Amino acid sequence: MKKNVIVTGGLGFIGSNLIKLLLKKNFKVINIDKISYSSNFYNTKDFNVKKNYKFIKCNINNSKKINNILNKYKPLCIFNLAAETHVDRSIDSPKEFIESNILGVFNLLECFKKFSKKNKKSRLIHISTDEVYGDILKNRSKENDTYKPSSPYAATKASSDHLVYSYVRTYKINAIVTNCSNNYGPRQHPEKLIPKIIYNCINNKNVPLYGDGKNSREWIYVDDHCNALLKIFKSGKNGEFYNIGSNLNQNNLNIAKLLIKIAKTKIETGKNVKIKFVKDRPGHDFRYALNSNKIKKKLGWKSSTGLKKGLEKTFEWYLNNQNYYSKLKKTDITKRLGQKY
Ligand code: DAU
Repeated sequence: MKKNVIVTGGLGFIGSNLIKLLLKKNFKVINIDKISYSSNFYNTKDFNVKKNYKFIKCNINNSKKINNILNKYKPLCIFNLAAETHVDRSIDSPKEFIESNILGVFNLLECFKKFSKKNKKSRLIHISTDEVYGDILKNRSKENDTYKPSSPYAATKASSDHLVYSYVRTYKINAIVTNCSNNYGPRQHPEKLIPKIIYNCINNKNVPLYGDGKNSREWIYVDDHCNALLKIFKSGKNGEFYNIGSNLNQNNLNIAKLLIKIAKTKIETGKNVKIKFVKDRPGHDFRYALNSNKIKKKLGWKSSTGLKKGLEKTFEWYLNNQNYYSKLKKTDITKRLGQKY
């Protein structure tokens, strides 16, 4: 019972990769997931045989169930990864983002506040994003910089970060907020840029780039992010915010070219596999970039996966795990979102 941890949203991309790491470190992991379009049991198929893994279908908005789970498992930590995460979806359906990312976190905080009274050592790590800082045309965002979210998605994450901090200040709960840059790696839903390009390379489709493809993101391999979360769990300070980034910025055009090049070394790509510039995303942030000196200096963490190596590993994973796709709705992979408002 001593090493119980809860991961919310553990059927998703970062959640399932984090569970893999936690199981390896011998934690007992309770995965809570509401099973949404991006939840994929393929992501956790190897965990089911393990004694220290338990899946519970549960929405973070369900207080009764969350209270019961907390009281039963008495976790040392809750890693909150349950969230709606796709910017384009948030443009079409912002309400779902408010329900999951704001009301869900509010509910989780209320449950955790109650639970914390008798379980003072337990902590909540709320996983957030670099998008809360908004468009960063120059320099890199630091933890104390102003939040200026551009999309409904980013605004809901910003709200939840504020809520978490307010509970730390007001109710003295043990909680930490982490703000990470763009993740990529195995098990990511192909609605996102990198897995979308890989899917399209494998399936002989055009590679759609929004606008002129010059928008820049800071790309971090998911395992590096998960290692940072573990480090924060072990030695992070309550009430703090930690940026987690790789310092590796690239524009989308370069990412697409690199992936197409990698694809050509691994498969015979079809004639449709070429870049196609398409209508831009509304409100599209030009650049995100984090200053991650705090976590480096205070906790001794740094990302270690180079971009080319990380992209190669990711491509290979999708190539060797094509059953991953069979669990997803095809229209969720191929449909262009964020244009219908
Ligand atoms: O920065 C961290 C954030 O990264 C996370 O908080 C979000 O949950 C995650 O979705 C991601 O947000 P982005 O909007 O940056 O990721 P996305 O993969 O949707 O897009 C990355 C860039 O690629 C962005 O400039 C839009 C562009 N793009 C995206 C898609 C899906 C394209 O050009 N074509 C595409 O088909």
